[in-house]
Amino acid sequence: MNSDKYNLLFVCLGNICRSPAAQGVMQRLVDERGLTDRFYIDSAGMGGWHVGDLPDKRMRVHARSRGYELTHRARKVQSRDFDDFDLIVGMDASNVDELRDLAATIEQQDKVVMMGDYIRQYPHYDHVPDPYYEGSEGFELVLDLLEDSCENLLDRILEQNNIKQ
Ligand code: 4NP
Repeated sequence: MNSDKYNLLFVCLGNICRSPAAQGVMQRLVDERGLTDRFYIDSAGMGGWHVGDLPDKRMRVHARSRGYELTHRARKVQSRDFDDFDLIVGMDASNVDELRDLAATIEQQDKVVMMGDYIRQYPHYDHVPDPYYEGSEGFELVLDLLEDSCENLLDRILEQNNIKQ
C-alpha cells in the first residue's frame, strides 16, 4: 500500500480462483504498459476458508498456459481494505452486495464496482462466474472474461485518474 500508487483490490468468494487470476492478468497488463511503479494490485476473498493457500491448482494450471504465474496467498477482506484501496472490484453481484454492506461510509461504498461492468467482448456475461464446481471450460471462461475486462478496466482507471502511460 502506498499513497503514490493506485491501489486496486480484486475480490471473489474464496480468493483462490477468480480474484487471484484477475490480479495476475492485471499485473501483467500494467507491467506491459510500463506502469508497474504506478500500481499496487492485490486480491482477497469474502470467505476465510482458504486463507494462506495458493490459488486452486486448476486455476494455476490454466493461468500458466497463458503465461500467468499465480503466487498470491489467499486472505479475507478486512475493513481497512476500504481505506487502503482506491478501487475494490467484485467478481459477481453477491461479492459486490456483501462488499457494499461491509463498507462503513458512502465514500467506501462508492469504491466498490463489479467486474462484469467492464466486460466488452462477451455481451452475454454480466459477471465472472465461479468456476469452483466447473470443469476446465469454466476456468478458461474466467480467463477469457478477465483478459477482456481487465484491459477495459485499466483504460478507465488511467482516464479517470489522469495517469499517463
Ligand atoms: P473463487 O472460487 O471465489 O473464484 O475463489 C471459489 C473457491 C472456493 C470456494 C468457493 C468459490 N469455496 O466454497 O471453498
